[in-house]
Amino acid sequence: MSEAELYRPKYHFTPKKNWMNDPNGLVYVNGKYHLFFQHNPFAITWGHMHWGHAVSTDLLNWEELPIAISEDEDGTIFSGSAVYDENNTAGFGKAIVAIYTANKTQSEDPKQWQGQSIAYSLDEGLTFTKYSGNPVIDRNLEEFRDPKVFWHEDRWVMIVAISIEQKIAIYSSLDLKKWELQSESLFFIENEAKLECPDLFPLELNGKKYWVLILSYFPHGIKNEASTKYVIGNFNGKSFEATSEPIWMDWGPNCYAGVTYNNTPDGKRIFMAWMKPLSDSVHPGTAWTGSMIVPRELSLTERNGKIQLVQNPICPPTKKLTLRVGETVSGSIEIRFDGNMLHFEDYSMPVAAIDGKVEVSIWLDSCSIEIIADEGTKSLSATVFPKDGMPII
Ligand code: FRU
Repeated sequence: MSEAELYRPKYHFTPKKNWMNDPNGLVYVNGKYHLFFQHNPFAITWGHMHWGHAVSTDLLNWEELPIAISEDEDGTIFSGSAVYDENNTAGFGKAIVAIYTANKTQSEDPKQWQGQSIAYSLDEGLTFTKYSGNPVIDRNLEEFRDPKVFWHEDRWVMIVAISIEQKIAIYSSLDLKKWELQSESLFFIENEAKLECPDLFPLELNGKKYWVLILSYFPHGIKNEASTKYVIGNFNGKSFEATSEPIWMDWGPNCYAGVTYNNTPDGKRIFMAWMKPLSDSVHPGTAWTGSMIVPRELSLTERNGKIQLVQNPICPPTKKLTLRVGETVSGSIEIRFDGNMLHFEDYSMPVAAIDGKVEVSIWLDSCSIEIIADEGTKSLSATVFPKDGMPII
């Protein structure tokens, strides 16, 4: 095996070559999970954003397809979502409609412009036609991005970040083309943080419906890297009201820009996120940069009187461990548990020991580790490039 392929994950999605960041346009249509992704087709570093495309029937084995949406004079194609417009509300036919941020650098003010645009596909995502009336939302803003669209009761709802102001805007539409602003709210996370990739969806617990808002942001957060938090609350079709404090989605340095699938069979809520490389680095010697996490099914639980998300990766773990207070497990990976903290290399997360024990599940692949503890309420994801390939435990 060539050195460049040594780190190629076995069951995590990576592009054949070049740069990948956020998962985009996550939608299930006719037996296939579509994964579009932020992609630079020209280099292993970020730039020239296009939407790459892959499909899978099981979320583990992926077939990479040709680029779905390309940059043009209207801008590069930043993150967004996709819906299946089965009832032809937009008039494009029974289409997959992608809703994305068009991003332009320009000479006039603002120097950078971001607005929301749409494109439709009548061949299951292989080719897209950009709508002639784009952009569908233009506020002449510099940092206004990452629309997540979903069907709610009798209309489409969009949640989108006004990143630098740390605001979330909610719009609604009957046809995906005309959008009306419903609310705008401040979600202050940390000083100077920029909000990105919001998602909003309902989950039930004991017959009661809760809404979950997921937000990614950078810099700061854990060790000054990018981070993701979620908030539990209520949504009345127009605005979201938080009823919990923001909670870490993941305690590692590399799980970012995660959002969930639209239109899944049985209404399962499947979360996919980008395992980003650490700041401005690319992988050692690989033909690509960036992989996805193992997709995780989300549900809710109540622990210590708090409603929390449970993340359940969709394939069995590589290893299950029962750690006792003060224990270190080593091999080429070292995991230590003392008191109520679980440590992995430089990263740690608080866990609740029951009778002095913590149950930990671990997913290993050629360049990543994902650790889930506390019955799915804690997760730590990290990319690792061990010298001789696959880490062993
Ligand atoms: C998140 C992000 C998004 C943006 C995209 C650009 O990683 O910065 O906010 O749309 O990446 O590639």
